[in-house]
Amino acid sequence: MSSATTNIESVLHEERVFPPPAEFSERAHVGSMEELEALRREARESPEAFWGRMAEGELHWFRKWDAVLKWEPPHAEWFVGGRINISYNCLDRHLQTWRRNKAAIIWEGEPGEQRTLTYGQLHREVARFANVLKRAGVERGDRVALYMPLIPELAIAMLACARVGAPHSVIFGGFAAQAIIDRVNDAGCKLVVTADGGFRRGSEVRLKDTVDEALKQTPSVKGCIVVQRTGSRVSMEAGRDYWWHEVIQTVADECPAEELDSEHPLYILYTSGTTGKPKGILHTTAGYLLQAHLTTKWVFDLREEDVYWCTADIGWVTGHSYVVYGPLSNGATVLMYEGAPNYPEPDRFWDIIQRHRVNVFYTAPTAIRAFIKWGEHWPLRHDLSSLRLLGTVGEPINPEAWMWYREIIGKAKCPIVDTWWQTETGAILISPLPGATPTKPGSATRPLPGVEAAVMSKTGQEAGPNEGGYLVIKRPWPSMLRTIWGDDERYRKQYWSEIDGVYFAGDGARQDEDGYFWIMGRVDDVINVSGHRLGTMEVESALVSHEAVAEAAVVGRPDELKGQGIVAFVTLEGERRATDELKEELRRHVAREIGALARPDEIRFADALPKTRSGKIMRRLLREIASSGGAVRGDTTTLEDFSVLERLRVQEEE
Ligand code: WT7
Repeated sequence: MSSATTNIESVLHEERVFPPPAEFSERAHVGSMEELEALRREARESPEAFWGRMAEGELHWFRKWDAVLKWEPPHAEWFVGGRINISYNCLDRHLQTWRRNKAAIIWEGEPGEQRTLTYGQLHREVARFANVLKRAGVERGDRVALYMPLIPELAIAMLACARVGAPHSVIFGGFAAQAIIDRVNDAGCKLVVTADGGFRRGSEVRLKDTVDEALKQTPSVKGCIVVQRTGSRVSMEAGRDYWWHEVIQTVADECPAEELDSEHPLYILYTSGTTGKPKGILHTTAGYLLQAHLTTKWVFDLREEDVYWCTADIGWVTGHSYVVYGPLSNGATVLMYEGAPNYPEPDRFWDIIQRHRVNVFYTAPTAIRAFIKWGEHWPLRHDLSSLRLLGTVGEPINPEAWMWYREIIGKAKCPIVDTWWQTETGAILISPLPGATPTKPGSATRPLPGVEAAVMSKTGQEAGPNEGGYLVIKRPWPSMLRTIWGDDERYRKQYWSEIDGVYFAGDGARQDEDGYFWIMGRVDDVINVSGHRLGTMEVESALVSHEAVAEAAVVGRPDELKGQGIVAFVTLEGERRATDELKEELRRHVAREIGALARPDEIRFADALPKTRSGKIMRRLLREIASSGGAVRGDTTTLEDFSVLERLRVQEEE
């Protein structure tokens, strides 16, 4: 290990605190702890007046609301009676200023091509595609699925949907056909927008082929619009499929933004839960925009001249809130990069930062750990002096990675914002403000103004300092999910019934003596792989759908790079033999069914799985076996058949 990294390790045992650099605070939107505390106090004392003041000052309204909040637990309505359009807020309102000719999106494709769209140009493209949507029969309230690579057309399509009031459902381009089928059918999407393909690590990902396979089983879909991105041959079904570049020629380039109700559905985004199919998280218009907008401004401390880069794929919530809606609403210049961080070499990100003079950089701990592994000579050979702020999201960041990020990328001068939030929360809830909050490596610090977070026991007692418990939010917030699409009962159960009267985030946490939050990861059967949640159930269902598999149990185990790796315990159908070929076949099968992200790192064959007397698989025991190499220390008194555990352990020692 290099000297820089070794130094970092030796200080890990200290409780280090990094106050914001004075030069940073001087120019920051929120430049001191006093200011931040004043905002917190204002929000705590009269939350509705606080959010009303923010909504008035930060957003454009066609009609002002009658009431800030209507709260009938667990259902919230924000800015009741207001009329607003997100696309208008992200585009039209900037056109009346000098920002008309400011770069909104600077895009770089993986092969290296570049495109820049000013706010004026982006507005025109969005209006044209909105007209295409209308021409395709999409009406206010209709759902549209977007399965696309990270190209400007994805942002254009989202903003066009928002313009006409058609909720979008973005499906990550790494998912397989079955995932598209499930999501499109659950939301009853009328239209799918895709591309022939995209580029990832030098090869083409053929999206249209996958869509063709999916559309055989999606009766609600009436049409498909295809962006020509890679130029490779795809099949186009007459009467159903249309090329984007052709239909866009046939429409007008003006399309007024619909005046939508504050609570009009903006999008559905699917995320993993513990049981059954993915949950369609529903976000609505005004409250979501307000908090995405405000957190972008505060947490990333955006300045007019910044080049801002969030590396997330738009297929995840981070891309929705912090590549598209938050930054564009603020009139920022957003950098977008289509491809992999290690193509053609492991310094692609640093090369991009140097060439585009990126000022604010937001990425995931899993990426940072990969950079560390690839070696610091890659970033060190680039000029990263334009950077002034660094951020992370997706999972707890280990202090060693935090320190490396600070020293090697930030040259000890950039504040780091470790931002805690979820698909369900819509926007960042716990984070430092870089000009105000002293940071501690590994802590997301404290809740933002207007967010009342706490750590509680299952019975709803607030935990004392350094006492572990469940992370909860005690008051509704504007960008909270409104429900689970088509399953309000599950919404109540999952988020509002675990602990009475509060939002249950599903994360373990503790607060230290300064009130700083330390997130300890998921407490449910959800695995966090590379910053993305995967339900163990989904991987299990994929495994069981293979004819050789009788039963499967999937658990996470610590993984140096990905945060968690996936281990699958599998029992086979009577006649099937446990071979290495079958292991490989099963890993491929899962990747085909769900996507490469879900491919198990390890498959273990067992003759039985440990179960309770009531027949529940004891994943906790499997987790211990998977991560500790056989030893099981926890309580096993509810185990039905001890010999099962014995046999799994013996297998471990072999
Ligand atoms: C889960 C949410 C929110 C965008 C990306 C993931 C974990 C997220 C942090 C953080 C510790 C974090 C939590 C959370 N998580 N950010 N800064 N520190 N853990 O969105 O797929 O909805 O996952 O990611 O476990 O519950 P998501």
